[in-house]
Amino acid sequence: MVTNLAVFEVIILLLPFLTKYGQCRGIWDDGPTYLEVSNLVLEKGKPLVVQQNSTQLQIKGLNGTLYSDSLSQLSQVSDLKIFINQIIDIETGAICSAPKLKRFEIDLSYNAHAPVLTKNMFEGCDNLEELFLVGNYDNLTTLDSDALQSLPNLKYLYIRNFNLKHLTQDYFKGLKSLTNLTLFRCSIEEIDSNAFVGLANLEEVRFEFNGFERLPNSLFKNTPKLVNLLLFGNNITNLTWDEFDGLASLERLELIRNQINTFDGNKITKFMPNLKVLLIEFKTLECDQRKKLNNYDEYAGSHEVLFLYKFGFDPDSCES
Ligand SMILES: *[C@@H]1O[C@H](CO)[C@@H](O)[C@H](O)[C@H]1NC(C)=O
Ligand SMILES: *[C@@H]1O[C@H](CO)[C@@H](O)[C@H](O)[C@H]1NC(C)=O
Ligand SMILES: *[C@@H]1O[C@H](CO)[C@@H](O)[C@H](O)[C@H]1NC(C)=O
Ligand SMILES: *[C@@H]1O[C@H](CO)[C@@H](O)[C@H](O)[C@H]1NC(C)=O
Ligand SMILES: *[C@@H]1O[C@H](CO)[C@@H](O)[C@H](O)[C@H]1NC(C)=O
Ligand SMILES: *[C@@H]1O[C@H](CO)[C@@H](O)[C@H](O)[C@H]1NC(C)=O
Repeated sequence: MVTNLAVFEVIILLLPFLTKYGQCRGIWDDGPTYLEVSNLVLEKGKPLVVQQNSTQLQIKGLNGTLYSDSLSQLSQVSDLKIFINQIIDIETGAICSAPKLKRFEIDLSYNAHAPVLTKNMFEGCDNLEELFLVGNYDNLTTLDSDALQSLPNLKYLYIRNFNLKHLTQDYFKGLKSLTNLTLFRCSIEEIDSNAFVGLANLEEVRFEFNGFERLPNSLFKNTPKLVNLLLFGNNITNLTWDEFDGLASLERLELIRNQINTFDGNKITKFMPNLKVLLIEFKTLECDQRKKLNNYDEYAGSHEVLFLYKFGFDPDSCES
């Protein structure tokens, strides 16, 4: 079955979709189950104590240093959020001094003196499964390239507003359980082709609003289970489509808000035989240029399970 939708229909269909995928799990929906403590400055040797036994805790208005023992008495807490804070330092092992911690979220958006996040801060986090890091909006926060290397059970990683200019293999090395990776507004300029080596369990990659112009070839040769690849809002230019080699399981590919001006249906079929949804936007593509797109019409018109959403030009307005 072929679905070739007109542009206006596509926009209508896409809105609920974007809303759904635009959400980031957990970050802004403070569920009623979180116990909240607020406005504190910690002291070394005086760990935080909460009265109720709660597995979910949120700390609002924490200033100063998170000491290595600050969270050590939170014996029941498996899910911890720290937001609206003026933290200036996080001591070695401080985060996972909470003995049962599985999910950790820190939002440094409004913290003008956010510390550089380093490996020692995550010491003892072997059992951590979900990590959300939101850096400072105006002055992107720094994450050391080896900071996350000792998180063998991490499944879900969300990073926003961090300065990750050059994505080397170091960043994700060791995250062998990782299934979902989001890098949002992280100012990525360059991605090394071995950046995903060892991430054999990746199912979803979302790189959104980062601004990189090139995807290296071979990047996805190490991620055979990837089903969703969402590249909304980067600046990908001169795509050859060889970049997608290895994506045998991929079902959804989003390339909206990039600088795409090439198409290669043969390579898509070859590298992504299971692709069901392709969202693509061709930048300022005139009708004469469109004729140069390698078998665009053939692919769009004959692929059995493809839903091709086209932006940037109206194919029906071109004379054939
Ligand atoms: C934390 O720092 C903020 C901003 O400097 C200040 O307004 C607030 O009173 C401080 N809170 C505590 C508990 O010290
Ligand atoms: C917290 O849990 C512990 C062990 O499960 C229990 O002994 C203690 O009474 C509980 N405290 C409160 C305040 O519920
Ligand atoms: C940005 O953050 C870094 C590290 O916290 C700090 O050294 C620098 O002064 C900040 N720059 C501005 C303009 O605030
Ligand atoms: C992780 O990715 C999978 C595959 O795309 C997706 O179905 C799932 O909802 C994602 N998990 C979370 C917590 O977003
Ligand atoms: C995208 O690339 C163009 C041309 O190279 C550049 O002018 C623009 O600033 C880039 N946009 C982003 C978001 O990086
Ligand atoms: C894209 O290709 C054009 C023409 O070959 C070249 O001038 C431009 O620098 C390339 N841009 C990138 C980001 O590779």
